[in-house]
Amino acid sequence: MDIELNEAQLEIQKLCRAFAAKELTPHARQWDEFHRFPAEAVKLLGEMGLMGVAVPEQWGGPGLDNVSYAVAMEEISRGCAGTGVIVSVSNSLYCDPVLKYGNDDQKREWLAPFARGEKLGCFALTEPQSGSDAAEMMTTAKLDGDCYVLEGTKNFITNGPQAEAVLVFAMTNPGAKHRGISAFIVPTDAPGFSRGKPDDKLGIRASGSCSLFFENCRVPVAQRLGRENEGFRIAMGTLDGGRIGIAAQALGIARAAFEEALAYSRDRKAFGTPICEHQAIQFMLADMATEIDAARLLVWQAAAMKDAGVRHTAQSSMAKLFASEMSGRVTTRALQIFGGYGYTKDYDVERHFRDAKITEIYEGTSEIQRIVIAATGLRE
Ligand code: CAA
Repeated sequence: MDIELNEAQLEIQKLCRAFAAKELTPHARQWDEFHRFPAEAVKLLGEMGLMGVAVPEQWGGPGLDNVSYAVAMEEISRGCAGTGVIVSVSNSLYCDPVLKYGNDDQKREWLAPFARGEKLGCFALTEPQSGSDAAEMMTTAKLDGDCYVLEGTKNFITNGPQAEAVLVFAMTNPGAKHRGISAFIVPTDAPGFSRGKPDDKLGIRASGSCSLFFENCRVPVAQRLGRENEGFRIAMGTLDGGRIGIAAQALGIARAAFEEALAYSRDRKAFGTPICEHQAIQFMLADMATEIDAARLLVWQAAAMKDAGVRHTAQSSMAKLFASEMSGRVTTRALQIFGGYGYTKDYDVERHFRDAKITEIYEGTSEIQRIVIAATGLRE
């Protein structure tokens, strides 16, 4: 069994690692403090082909595989987790479904400029009263001539404040639950579309999220993605890919915390010796390193299965479940190693600690991942 990266994947790892060290890590603390969207970095990432990593060249991307995408996400998130989720939403939750379900006209208009990073997309599934139970949505889309009329509210939409287009899910057959949902691409300059103020969040503060409002918002039939009432399957299949991106983000956050804690433990002295010489600290570091490697193997497995075109629902959920909870444990231990200093804003470890938490919540909570694994991975 081959678990080594190939030359192209190593190249993307090297490129993203250098990019993160130069363009992300030095600014991440400030972006976090001021809740600032990293526009310049996102522009550069677009020019590098990282906003649509797996999109073929014909549609504006570099046409790399999903393992490369996971590797890139780990490195970018190691530098700045907020930037990581901006990239993840663009790749997995916007470009991926438009590539998979869009016709050529839709790909020309709604994929190529987004994969090139000239425009930014977002994914609007969650509503104020329906998060985990996604099929419980209340947003409706009524057919009226050659348009659908959208009414409803979506919330916590990552990239919402900046996006030029929204992939939105709405009920075309209310009462049919998940069998009555369709997907639409809505430009954010459409009449009847508006956004709320950006959310003030605990972590990943370089990335913006907000509520989106659709009021008598007319969307041409040509902007429906996939067949009518096929939307729930599109959303779920899309999240199978998205969860790989978030798992890789969690991995990047954990690695940042681990590497910083390791360096600190070599400098900091207690009882006459660097604290890395104490077994209590060594055991913590050993557990952290082991868990990070275990999570990476799960992430690469799910990404490789996606590349092979086989169903990877359970493996994506396993990767996300383990990597996100691992990130919580690793960032907690890292902060402990820093002691009192870790609890201050003088070091980045408190940011990693805050950033890690969201990975256990968005794109399906840990509890939802367990439901998915039990439903799809434990059957004969
Ligand atoms: N691929 C394709 N089809 C799928 C699928 C998948 N992975 N998962 C389910 N389906 C299909 C099923 O086959 C079934 O189809 P039929 O009825 O036609 O046979 C249908 O979808 C319904 O499946 P379930 O009965 O399992 O559906 P459910 O209503 O019980 O819900 C759930 C399942 C897993 C709990 C789902 O609601 C879910 O994933 N919830 C979490 C939502 C979520 O992750 N939201 C994230 C928002 S995006 C975000 O967070 C972005 C961000 O900020 C970064």
